[in-house]
Amino acid sequence: MNRKLFCGINAALLVMAPMGEAAADPSIERLIASQCAQCHGTDGRSVGDIQKLAGEETYEKLMEMLFELRAENIMEHQAQGYTPEQLRNIANYYQNLPERARNGGGGQ
Ligand code: HEC
Repeated sequence: MNRKLFCGINAALLVMAPMGEAAADPSIERLIASQCAQCHGTDGRSVGDIQKLAGEETYEKLMEMLFELRAENIMEHQAQGYTPEQLRNIANYYQNLPERARNGGGGQ
């Protein structure tokens, strides 16, 4: 019985640990999200046609892409390289970035 309890606690810790660590450190969010920059621009501010991510709410879209059974487009393949927790971190990171660079001057 003791052994069973021990295993149960261990399993719970295994599930909880990665989430706790990731959420506690903002630099981890940035690190995980950095891979998106090659297409969506530094700090999620794209310069070309690809949509910007800074200030956007993307979590639900990313989760849809993650669970797409037959990944077809580039983004579904991207999303499927992450766990739901990592996508949560990525979405948090971009959503909290200002749409424009702070020293971008003028505008709203
Ligand atoms: C290899 C290039 C590439 C990388 C890397 C990339 N994306 Fe994309 N992403 C695209 C392209 C191209 C589109 C437009 C796809 C379309 O419109 O069908 C897109 C679209 C999106 C969209 C909009 C989807 C929609 O349906 O509106 C989101 C959100 C997004 N990307 C988030 C991310 C995040 C977060 C990452 C990092 C995990 C990432 N992307 C990495 C190329 C990329």
